[in-house]
Amino acid sequence: MSPMSTAATVWVLMNIGILQTISEFSHWPMSLHRRTAFERCLESRVFPFPLPRGRFPWTPDVFHKFLTKFTFSEEFDEPEKYRSSYSVQRQVKIWADILKCLGHEAHTAIIIRHMIAIQPQSGPQPGQPLVDPFLKVTHDTFDGVKVIVYQPTSVKSSLRGGLVYMYAGGWALGSAEIVDTNMRRLAKTSNIVIVSVDYRRAPEHIFPAPLDDVVKATKYFMRCACKFGVNRNRIAIGGESSGGTLAAAVTLKFRNTNWRPRIKLQVLLYPPLQTIDFMTPSYLENACNGDLDHSKIRGFWLWYAFGNVTDLPLVDFSRNCHTTAAAKARYGRLLPWSALPDTSEKPSQRRLSKSCRRPNKSLWSKVKSTFTDQYFAPLMARNMRRLPEALIITVKDDVLRDDGIMYARRLKDAGVKVTSAMFSAPHNIFALPEGNVTKTIALEISDFLNSRL
Ligand SMILES: *[C@@H]1O[C@H](CO)[C@@H](O)[C@H](O)[C@H]1NC(C)=O
Ligand SMILES: *[C@@H]1O[C@H](CO)[C@@H](O)[C@H](O)[C@H]1NC(C)=O
Ligand SMILES: *[C@@H]1O[C@H](CO)[C@@H](O)[C@H](O)[C@H]1NC(C)=O
Repeated sequence: MSPMSTAATVWVLMNIGILQTISEFSHWPMSLHRRTAFERCLESRVFPFPLPRGRFPWTPDVFHKFLTKFTFSEEFDEPEKYRSSYSVQRQVKIWADILKCLGHEAHTAIIIRHMIAIQPQSGPQPGQPLVDPFLKVTHDTFDGVKVIVYQPTSVKSSLRGGLVYMYAGGWALGSAEIVDTNMRRLAKTSNIVIVSVDYRRAPEHIFPAPLDDVVKATKYFMRCACKFGVNRNRIAIGGESSGGTLAAAVTLKFRNTNWRPRIKLQVLLYPPLQTIDFMTPSYLENACNGDLDHSKIRGFWLWYAFGNVTDLPLVDFSRNCHTTAAAKARYGRLLPWSALPDTSEKPSQRRLSKSCRRPNKSLWSKVKSTFTDQYFAPLMARNMRRLPEALIITVKDDVLRDDGIMYARRLKDAGVKVTSAMFSAPHNIFALPEGNVTKTIALEISDFLNSRL
């Protein structure tokens, strides 16, 4: 195809995308129709926005403008850095959608991975020597699970604390390498040993395979802690985004099976934690915001649960029609809305029960056993007692903000010590290692670990 006809095809397909989104949102009951957030999103795609040239090799300049006009809260001080970083991801996603439209057979996640792989990588490559005078960094396998281990080289007479950490990527993308910079910094500032788990990903390895990997690696690390100069009673678990879900699920698994030693602390960075309510205030306010919009997180959850989702009616999830009224009443109790900050979007429990006029019962029977599994969606745990003390970090401009806030409330109500912090930033901000907000978050985490581990 010539560049002109490629451009025209892309333009047409993007507009089809906009129309699809309109038709999806127009199914929402009027009382809950969040026109403002949605309109902002549409504007962002229709009115060009000047951006520096992106790195992605195949995209004509003009399309960058459509991709990255997010509406952040005013306090977020580095929007341009975020935009240029996520322009690439958005373009990759659009190209993947286009390839699907043109009949490409592979799963979207796999197309995206291939396209990301041809980008210049900033993290270390497997097999490359990893040199840092203050750290010993090794690629290893723990009970068959790939990990990267970060060990401070400074002399210490006593044993150190340890942290098992999970990268972000919607359980389908990413790898332990993408969090390398943050892990190095954290290992040094907290003087701890970090095991960054390279768990397997969906759609090839759906729930519970990624979780099984993390459980195995954590148990191995506890058994062999001495080998790494670590005190097995001082091991924390943490993760960002989907990695945070896995971290929370591991704490539930260890508690439920009375595993010894206990995990000492948990650190959750903007984790997704439930699939019952896709219309929480943060879902509605940030439907089209930032790197992780409403349709993307829904997609990730479904890939994680089922792998190939071509036979699921996606629109039913966006308006909470995947649950029945009885299910909303029953599982809605596990979601403490009262904890959410006062915003114009704040719904009541009654709103959840009314958020769908015609629930798709056959869909609920299909997803129910996975969606209500506490190891899949940790907010579904009925009992939060005896879980590790937690640091829960949320970001304001994020569909997942309310999941984190509700989890913090559930833990507190069950007598678990919780430190919560919210930053004015969009989802996945930690992936900008040199950003201001990232540095502040990193400081928050190392303060927490230094004082409590
Ligand atoms: C980062 O923070 C510093 C100090 O608070 C400020 O001077 C700088 O402008 C910020 N950088 C960006 C990109 O906002
Ligand atoms: C997904 O499932 C559909 C229908 O079951 C099938 O036609 C398609 O090839 C599958 N796609 C992948 C990537 O497995
Ligand atoms: C309900 O969900 C099923 C999948 O379980 C889907 O095949 C069907 O089209 C949906 N029905 C409606 C009315 O959307």
